[in-house]
Formats: sequence, structure tokens, C-alpha cells
Amino acid sequence: MKTIFKTMTKLIALSLLLCGVTVTLFSFKLAQNDDLNASKKRGEALYQANCVACHQAAGEGIPGAIPPLAKADYLMKDTKRAIRQVLHGAKGEMVVNGVKYNNEMPGQSHLKDQEVADVLNYVMNSWGNKAAKPLTAAQVKPERAAKK
Ligand code: HEC
Repeated sequence: MKTIFKTMTKLIALSLLLCGVTVTLFSFKLAQNDDLNASKKRGEALYQANCVACHQAAGEGIPGAIPPLAKADYLMKDTKRAIRQVLHGAKGEMVVNGVKYNNEMPGQSHLKDQEVADVLNYVMNSWGNKAAKPLTAAQVKPERAAKK
């Protein structure tokens, strides 16, 4: 009888612990979503100010001249490259969704680290794009010094 009681107590303690872990993980996930939503909101305003003239309102780009950001394989494939693209711009040939572009994008290095993270959180989570993880300013910082 005593051992049954002990086992029960252990089981109850274990399930309480598991509940606690679940609740903690869940609230962490909620907090992360809040962060992403706030970042996307700031990013949308930055997009309107710095990108929309070329990449257009729904990220569709301009056929033959400006590649799309909406459902763009190039953008979503390599986050570091996307950060460098925004900071340093790009020149020369690139293939986006199977279409070749050979144009020039001016670097947007006037944007702060947090602003680059925000604008990318917006474009990487809009118009059908879904990033695995939200970007942070700390990820942008090292790319500022890096070559494109
Ligand atoms: C003056 C026009 C212009 C502006 C402003 C501009 N871009 Fe671009 N962007 C381009 C062009 C042109 C290319 C393709 C460059 C090439 O052909 O090498 C490009 C390419 C890209 C790419 C990689 C290709 C793709 O479609 O995935 C990303 C990402 C990108 N731009 C994001 C941005 C973001 C974010 C902003 C605003 C912070 C921005 N661009 C502002 C013209 C622009």
C-alpha cells in the first residue's frame, strides 16, 4: 500500500511538472508572436517608406525589372543574404522564381539594425511568405560589416 501511494505521489508530481513546462513553453511562444507582430507593424511603415516604390504594394515587383518579394524563393532561401541585400543592395544577375533579373538595387544602409530586422520580418511574413523564426537586430549587426 505504501509503495502504491509513493508511486501515485511521484506520478502526480511528474504530471504537475509537465503541466508547468507546457505552460511556460506556450507563454514563450505567445510572447514571441507578440514580438513578431510588433516588429511586422514597424516593418510595414518602413516598407512603405523605403521599398514600395520598387517592389510594389503586395511585393509583386515589376515584371522584367524588379524581382518580387511575395513568395520569392530567393528571399526565403537565405536569411543572411537577404539582410546583406537590404543593407548593401545588389547588382548583376539573379534568378527569382525562375525569372532572370539583371538590375541594380541601392543599398539601404541608412536603416538601423532593428529597422532592417523589422522590414524583413514584414516582407518575410506577408503575401504568402512565412519565415521559420523572427529576425532580430543582433542578426543584422554582423552583416553590416560583411561583404555582399
Ligand atoms: C530603387 C529600387 C529598389 C528599392 C528602393 C528596393 N529594392 Fe530591393 N531590389 C531591387 C532590384 C532592382 C533588385 C534586383 C537586383 C539585381 O537584379 O541584381 C532587388 C532585389 C531585392 C531582393 C532579392 C531578390 C528577391 O526578390 O528576393 C530583396 C530581398 C530585396 N530587393 C528587398 C528589398 C527591401 C526589403 C527594400 C526596402 C528596404 C528594397 N528591396 C528596396 C530594387 C529595389
